[in-house]
Amino acid sequence: MFEAHQHARMLADATRLTAFHDAMAEVIADGDRVLDAGTGTGILAAMASQLTAGTVVAVEYLQDTASFAQQALRDSRLDRVEVVRGNAVQADIGTPPDVVVSETIGSLGPEENIVGLTHALRQRYPDIRAFIPSRLRVLAEPVVSAEASALHASVIGAFTREQPGGMSFATVLPQVEHALGGQIITARLTDATSAGPAVPLVEYDLGTTPDADFSRTLSLGDSTANALHLYFEAPLSPAVTLSSHRTAAFTHWGHSYIVRPPHASTVTIGYRNADRRFTCHWDRPADA
Ligand SMILES: C[S@@+](CC[C@H](N)C(=O)[O-])C[C@H]1O[C@@H](n2cnc3c(N)ncnc32)[C@H](O)[C@@H]1O
Repeated sequence: MFEAHQHARMLADATRLTAFHDAMAEVIADGDRVLDAGTGTGILAAMASQLTAGTVVAVEYLQDTASFAQQALRDSRLDRVEVVRGNAVQADIGTPPDVVVSETIGSLGPEENIVGLTHALRQRYPDIRAFIPSRLRVLAEPVVSAEASALHASVIGAFTREQPGGMSFATVLPQVEHALGGQIITARLTDATSAGPAVPLVEYDLGTTPDADFSRTLSLGDSTANALHLYFEAPLSPAVTLSSHRTAAFTHWGHSYIVRPPHASTVTIGYRNADRRFTCHWDRPADA
C-alpha cells in the first residue's frame, strides 16, 4: 500500500526539499544522467529533470509507490523521468548514471541503508561522479534540557505512584532509569542548552564506506548534561548540508535525544545494520 501519511510528511518538509533542490542545482550538470535511488513519490526525480536534459531514472522497490510516482510524473508531463520498479542496487537502469541522489536517510541517518545502498551502487557503476548526499555523520551533543527532565520525572512518577494490587516498583526504579536511558526519544528540543562540545560518533563517505556498523563509548565525566542530543549532518553538496541538529531548521526527522540516568557517566552508542537499529547502553553505577 502507498504510505500516504509518511510521504505527506516528507512532501511537507520544505527544509528538506529546498536543501535537495539547491544541492542538485549545484551538482547536476546539464546532460547528466541521474539516478534517484528510492524515489517514493518521485519528487526528487521531478526536480532533477528540470536541471538536466539527460534521462532521470527513478527507482522504487515498493510496487504501489512506484505506480503512484509513475502516474503522477506522467500526468505532470515529466516524460524524461523513467520509473523503474525494483531494488536500486540491482534494477536494470540501462546506461550508468553520472549522479546518484538518494534520500534514504533514517531518523538518525543510516537506518534506511543509505550506506550499503550507495556503496553497492559505486561497486556497480565505478564512474558515478557524485552522490547526493556525499557524506553522512552522526553526532552526540551533551545538553541540559527541561524536556528531558520532564520526561524523566513523568516516567519515574508513573512507577512511584501508588499502584493497585499492592504493587510497588521501588526496588526496580534504577532499572527503569537505565532502560529509559537506552531509548531514543524523538521530539522537539526547544529549550536545550549545550553542556559540552558535540562528538562525532561515526562518519560515512557515501559510495565508499561499505558498512554502517559502529560502536562508540562516550564519557560525560562531571558534565551537568541530563541528556545527549543525537543528530545527523548530511552534506548534500559543497554548499548545502542537511542537519537534524536542534538549532537547524526543523525537519520531519525531528530532534532525537537520550536521557542520562542519574549518576551514569559513560554511554556506549552503537548501530547494527542487520537490525537497522541504534542501541544506547549507559554504565550502571555500583548502587543500581
Ligand atoms: C525516505 S523515502 C524518500 C522518498 C523520496 N525520494 C523523497 O525524497 O520524498 C525513501 C523511499 O525509498 C524507497 N527505497 C528504499 N531503499 C530502496 C532501494 N534499495 N531500492 C529502491 N527503493 C528503495 C522506499 O520504499 C521509500 O519509498
